[in-house]
Amino acid sequence: KSKLKTNIIGKEIIYFETIDSTNDYAKKIAKKSSEGTIVISEEQTKGKGRMGRFWHSSKKDGIYMSIILKPDILPNDAPIITQIAGLSVVKALNKLNVDAKIKWPNDILINNKKVCGILTEMSIEIDRIDYIVLGIGINVKTLDFSEDIKNIATSILKEGYNLNRLDIITLVLDEFENLYLDYINTKNKQIIANMCKEYSALIGKDIYVIQFNDRKRAKCIDINKEGNLIVQYEDGSIKELISGEVSIRGE
Ligand code: BTN
Repeated sequence: KSKLKTNIIGKEIIYFETIDSTNDYAKKIAKKSSEGTIVISEEQTKGKGRMGRFWHSSKKDGIYMSIILKPDILPNDAPIITQIAGLSVVKALNKLNVDAKIKWPNDILINNKKVCGILTEMSIEIDRIDYIVLGIGINVKTLDFSEDIKNIATSILKEGYNLNRLDIITLVLDEFENLYLDYINTKNKQIIANMCKEYSALIGKDIYVIQFNDRKRAKCIDINKEGNLIVQYEDGSIKELISGEVSIRGE
């Protein structure tokens, strides 16, 4: 905590040796907590991934944390907050000389394997955001992944970087606070989109777009102001993809 330079993010830190899921705990206390409160645990017994998946969260292998946010933005703009989280992780890792990139919309990859995932959950009241719980999971020292994810997952250590968890957390939170406050103050989505493009693992690459059991080849050409991925299919048609509606695979 002493190393943190942030003003809001991490002002309050709730630490656990073990918990089911930091996101679930954060959701329980979100209403009465102040913005920037962090829930962090050494391990999770029921770590949650996106789309109901499990997030492997063994003791001291990784970083499992959730940030409680109360931004005054429209619910439709909430995906930007997830993108900002992805950017903070990637910028932090780059500062630590780790060559990490973002796989749109917000997985973080090293050597094309996933090292970090983000799970954003929010509570909406009528048409405003009550709170957002931003869950960040980073594989730091994991060496053995289960059979099902072995080929697509990695850890920072496995890729050859021996980093200290506290250094990573400190930098991620620093980056996050800067980007988050800038966005809240300016509401400038273009700046975020430009950064997502700069750190993207996909731009210029050929990929597969998967939607409704259908798989089509395409080239990634841009990320627009709304944070959507622009692709060109083999027939030349250009389409805007919305996160959550499609999934992307490398070739
Ligand atoms: C993904 O599927 O890519 C998202 C993974 C998110 C994992 C993190 S770990 C901390 C927080 N608590 C959870 O239960 N999940 C998120």
